Amino acid sequence: MSSTLFRATPLLRGALRASGAVKPASATFVRGKATLPDLSYDYGALEPHISGKIMELHHSKHHQTYVNGLNSALDTIAEAESKGDFTKAASIAPLLNFHGGGHLNHTLFWENLAPASREGGGEPDGALKKAIEADFGSFDSFRKQMNTSLAGIQGSGWAWLVKDKSSGNLGLVTRANQDPVTGQFEPLLGIDAWEHAYYLQYENRKAEYFDAIWNVINWKTVSKRFEKP
Ligand SMILES: [Fe+2]
Repeated sequence: MSSTLFRATPLLRGALRASGAVKPASATFVRGKATLPDLSYDYGALEPHISGKIMELHHSKHHQTYVNGLNSALDTIAEAESKGDFTKAASIAPLLNFHGGGHLNHTLFWENLAPASREGGGEPDGALKKAIEADFGSFDSFRKQMNTSLAGIQGSGWAWLVKDKSSGNLGLVTRANQDPVTGQFEPLLGIDAWEHAYYLQYENRKAEYFDAIWNVINWKTVSKRFEKP
């Protein structure tokens, strides 16, 4: 079992709590149940950039699996802790990281997307625009660097625009599998590079998906995350 992952568990718990992805039913976190969040748009609303079929499967099946896996991992850990069986609790840490990260990442992802006919696409404005220009040179350069990060992911993972909590500077990070962004970085904008996010529509042409998704980025949400103290 991975002791590193187990040590990361409090960070993941904090991130899940902070994002609202898991709402404690009481003061004890483990009693809270994760639930699949509703989308603020229809499955077909991101077309033609992301097909309705992908959105339906991605949200109702893939994300639901992470929700179920997270609740199951939390239940198992709570039961093991109540019996003082910390070896058993620790052995669940990789599952907690995977499903908890999957739930958190997708919750953030749905919120940072919006139909092109509404607030999706275009470019950010205000303080976020200035920060992107300061830290990446220009919006275009930022978008290219993010797409390069996405293309460089081997296997499944995510690319994130993040804010360093100490310096306030923006940066790009990638995460393998469902590893969440925790610790010093605040996740602002995540793009899912798993095959389940594009394959039905784009097949092996993932660069086309990475280009198309910019048409449905919800910059209002990203700005709100950036401006959050
Ligand atoms: Fe996904």
